[in-house]
Parts: sequence; C-alpha cells; structure tokens
Amino acid sequence: MKILIFASLIIYTVAGTQLTLDRNPRIVGGEDGQIEEFPALVAIINIPRQMRTCAGTLISEQWIITAAHCYTHPVNFTIEYATSYLQQTNPGAKHADPELFLRHEKYNGSSITFDIGLIKLLMPLLTGLHSPFSRLAMPGSYYRTGTPATVAGWGIWSYENSTLAHLQKADLQVWHYRDCQEAHKDSGSSLSIHSHQICAGLPDFSKAECNGDSGGPLYVHGVQVGIVSWSLKPCTVAEFPGVYTDVSFFIPWIQEKTGLEFELQNFLIRKN
Ligand SMILES: *[C@@H]1O[C@H](CO)[C@@H](O)[C@H](O)[C@H]1NC(C)=O
Ligand SMILES: *[C@@H]1O[C@H](CO)[C@@H](O)[C@H](O)[C@H]1NC(C)=O
Ligand SMILES: *[C@@H]1O[C@H](CO)[C@@H](O)[C@H](O)[C@H]1NC(C)=O
Repeated sequence: MKILIFASLIIYTVAGTQLTLDRNPRIVGGEDGQIEEFPALVAIINIPRQMRTCAGTLISEQWIITAAHCYTHPVNFTIEYATSYLQQTNPGAKHADPELFLRHEKYNGSSITFDIGLIKLLMPLLTGLHSPFSRLAMPGSYYRTGTPATVAGWGIWSYENSTLAHLQKADLQVWHYRDCQEAHKDSGSSLSIHSHQICAGLPDFSKAECNGDSGGPLYVHGVQVGIVSWSLKPCTVAEFPGVYTDVSFFIPWIQEKTGLEFELQNFLIRKN
C-alpha cells in the first residue's frame, strides 16, 4: 500500500481559499468517546502499522461495512476491535484477520461514488461488548436536514504522528443530499453529490466540520445512516458538509453479498 490515497488529490481555489479533497477526513472539534458507546466500531489497521487506518462497523460476527476507498488486500491489514485506544503497541488490543474485502462493483475512485465495501472475517468474532452490531438504516429511510447525528472514529493520520489515538465522537446534523448538492455547487470541485450519499455538518461550521475516519459510521438515534467517504478541506473554513455513503441505499447490496437478513425495525421515517 504505497499509494497515498489519503493525500490531497484535487486542489483548487474558491475565493482565494485553497480547498483540497480529503479522503482521510478526521474528526475536528470532537470529544473523547468510549468503545462501549460505539461497540460496532472497528479499526482497519494496515500492515506495516504506521500506514493510515480506516474504520468500519461490525454488522454481524463475520462482516464489517466500510468505505470502498479503504481497500487494502487482506494480507495487508488486520482488524482491531473492542478498544477505545489505538496505539503503536496496544497490548490489550484484540485482532481479527480478514478473509476478503469486497468493493462495490460501481465504486468509482475519481468521482468517489458507490464508496462502500464489505470485509469478511476469517473467523466469527465476539467482541464481549453489549450489542456489538451496527443497526442499519432500512431502505427508504429519510433524514431531513438538521436531524441530529453523531460521527465516531479515531481520526488518525499515522500511528507515529498520531495525536488522536483515543476514539473521538462529534455531534453533527444531517444534510439531505439535495441540500448538500446545493452547498457543494459553488465549491469549484468536480465532485458532485448523488442520491446514494448523505451529508453531515453543522450549520455554522463552528466545530467538527470534518467527519471521522474514512469508513466509519454516522449514527442517527443509534441507527447507522452513513459511512464516512470524503470532505473538502480545510475544515476550519469549510462551508461544505462532509459526504457519507447512504447506508439505506445499499441494504439490498449488503444483503446480496453477505446473505444477512435485517429486521425491518430500524428505519425512522419512510420516504414519501
Ligand atoms: C502488501 O504490502 C506490501 C508492502 O507495501 C506490498 O509490497 C505487497 O504487494 C502487498 N500485497 C498485496 C497482496 O497487495
Ligand atoms: C468515474 O468518474 C469519472 C468522473 O466523474 C468519470 O469521468 C468516469 O467515466 C467514471 N468511470 C466509470 C468507469 O464510470
Ligand atoms: C511525523 O511528523 C514530523 C513533523 O511533522 C515529520 O517530520 C515526520 O516525518 C513525521 N513522521 C512520519 C513517520 O510521518
């Protein structure tokens, strides 16, 4: 994994401000969280370990959902779970080995669309935590702009230089994709927002303008509605909410690939 996919790929100017595309968004202005609050959250640790990490969430004993752009060959990463801290050496850490990493067939790394992936673990695992699986937003779920949401992740650039080895969380608000589309219209970016995406930020961008580690979850009332995908930087002057993969859009795909069944109890508001 020599390619620095998290490096700034697109640089352009809006009103004299340098904006860069960040494929490794991390939480800014968040606060410490505990794994017990986000028991499904896992870290995808690249080997060698100083490479950046991604996050993901357990949806069963053997399956994790994450972002497609987090792809690494299974020989080159491990899953760290049931821990609030990520450190260079974490004696208490639990590890699970991956068997495969599936990217969505339509994933496009240029437009960063269909940015969803599934990791299958070699062996089923038990986290020892209460309700360790992410409850997913059901197809047709609709979240209006302003709905309170929470993002969680470790927000790490690299282990050696990590200042945020502790799990971070931040309270944000959902932006409906159409509002997000509107917000990004004047960004000058070639990237656009699609109906299989959902966004999150704060109206005044006062804090937590960035989202958590790529592949990590966005929750609304304890239901995972998004997967961290990308955002525009610098965060401190951002007028652009972070972009997430809309989980509800991909339930049929997740079911098809994993063979898992989901109970129809998790959606909040059905569309129309
Ligand atoms: C695993 O990582 C090493 C070191 O970056 C690289 O040389 C190797 O090709 C990777 N293996 C696979 C299967 O991607
Ligand atoms: C990927 O997205 C880019 C930019 O939108 C587009 O030009 C390209 O055709 C897309 N590739 C595929 C295979 O759809
Ligand atoms: C860590 O950060 C310092 C200062 O920014 C830099 O000089 C050093 O190369 C970084 N180390 C790694 C492994 O990225």
